Amino acid sequence: MHRYCLLALVGCAVLAAQNSEGERLAPYYPTPETIVEKMLQLGGLKAGEKMFDLGSGDGRIVIMAAQKFHAQAVGVELDRDLWKLSMDKIRKLGLQNTARIINGDLLKQDYSSADLITVYLLSGFIDKVQPLLDQQLKKGARVVAHDFEFRNWTPEKVQNIADDGEGRSHTLFLYRK
Ligand SMILES: C[S@@+](CC[C@H](N)C(=O)[O-])C[C@H]1O[C@@H](n2cnc3c(N)ncnc32)[C@H](O)[C@@H]1O
Repeated sequence: MHRYCLLALVGCAVLAAQNSEGERLAPYYPTPETIVEKMLQLGGLKAGEKMFDLGSGDGRIVIMAAQKFHAQAVGVELDRDLWKLSMDKIRKLGLQNTARIINGDLLKQDYSSADLITVYLLSGFIDKVQPLLDQQLKKGARVVAHDFEFRNWTPEKVQNIADDGEGRSHTLFLYRK
């Protein structure tokens, strides 16, 4: 990740953490579409599998998972405007049968049916998600993290992307339960 992007992300996170909602510890900072595809490929997402994107932003990961990988895709997004935006996109694309977004706190959901989880959240927040996934994920479920790793887990694979076409580097981490 570019140094300035990281600084911007951390800066936004500090502001986000100070807002009145309290639980919104990660800012909205979308994954480029080319990297979304690499995340889903690294996660080995197959048709009919169930995936969740934790903190789904504008829904781009959920939409690609449903549209291109033919998965059952669910996003969880706290921000009401982003939830509405992503649901509107899903409706316009006619993907309502395979894609949906829950407007809620990602720490309060049930991920026991997940085959794949994707996350792009800051380290401090990932540390909060990890015990929940330890408890809920079924054996064999995969997790793909973008740029910020699960510090207590050992990745099965690490993929470095030197340039996403816009001068940003990315690191993807694959974990398997
Ligand atoms: C870095 S963005 C990633 C968006 C999307 N996953 C992507 O990769 O393009 C993190 C997202 O998490 C959302 N978020 C932060 N805290 C959350 C929470 N407690 N529950 C649900 N969503 C949350 C933010 O609103 C933001 O849209």
